[in-house]
Formats: sequence, C-alpha cells, structure tokens
Amino acid sequence: MSDSRRVCVCPGSYDPVTLGHLDVIERAAAMFDDVVVAVLHNPDKRGTFTAAERVELLRHVLEGRERVRVVEFGGRLLVDVCRELGAAHVVKGLRGGADFDYELPMALMNRHLTGVETVFVAADPRLAHVSSSLVRQVNAYGGDVSGLVPDVVRDALVAHRRA
Ligand code: PNS
Repeated sequence: MSDSRRVCVCPGSYDPVTLGHLDVIERAAAMFDDVVVAVLHNPDKRGTFTAAERVELLRHVLEGRERVRVVEFGGRLLVDVCRELGAAHVVKGLRGGADFDYELPMALMNRHLTGVETVFVAADPRLAHVSSSLVRQVNAYGGDVSGLVPDVVRDALVAHRRA
C-alpha cells in the first residue's frame, strides 16, 4: 500500500453494528481511500457481545466491501491506533445535538493528544433514532429490531436473548 493513500478510522464499540453505523462507514469510504473500522473498548459501556463477536458481525455485513477492513484494538487509545495505521482522520456520525455534546470533547481530546482530526458526517435522518443501546434494549424486552440492524445482527441478538 502506498503512503499517499488517505486512511480514516471509524471507531466505535459496535455493540452491535447498526444500519446507522453502516451508513457512516459507506460515506467514509466515499471520502477516503481506506477505511479501518476499529472496534475499541468504551470504559463507560458494559458489553452485550464480546469484542470477537462484534468483529465477526461487522466482517459479515461488510464482506466484499473493498477498501474497508475491520480490526479489533481492545483497550487502546484511539489516537495510538490512528498513529499505527497512518490515519490522520477519524470519521463519526452525528444524529443530533446530544451526539455532538458526546463527541466534541473526544474529538478535541484526540486532536490535543496527536493532532488527529475528527470529520463529522450528518447522520441519515431516517436513522436518527437508531443506536446500539436502544437496539439492545428493544431486543432485551422482546421487541423486533428488524430495519434497525442488518438481519444477521438481529438474528444474533435474538439468539443472545434466548441464551
Ligand atoms: O461507539 P462508542 O461507544 O460511542 O465509541 C466510543 C469509542 C470506543 C470510540 C471511545 O470510547 C474510544 O475512543 N475508546 C478508546 C479509548 C480512548 O481513546 N479514549 C479516549 C477518547 S478521547
């Protein structure tokens, strides 16, 4: 791979990947040569799927997508991951003001640490209500999450609920 390729990182817990995440990843791929979907640990969140399961689901739904790869980085700093990958940009989606309030301190901290820039894309309004946490909650109480996550993820959630 040549050094001139523009690499971006789409970081997240992806617990689980939603259609909103996939929209942001698609749009990142339209702006950058290579997209690394980085599965990271969020110390403020308790997991449903293991990191390995999240990666497996992501790889499944992104199979065949050129220039997009999924990598698990565990409990590392995002800026260290970006440096290792040669990525000067992080791409994140914003569904509204609450997302902005959540994302801005992280974007500023990451820029403070290494100068990495965060590029925000406006989320598709049709997916503005879709979050991993609400999907988990709806599923946990027996609701149908079809149309919020890929079918394979829905099926994994149902299997997890029944386990
Ligand atoms: O999908 P999430 O949970 O909103 O993603 C948050 C995530 C995983 C991107 C964030 O917690 C993160 O970057 N974790 C890695 C550790 C890190 O770099 N923390 C400092 C962020 S300023």
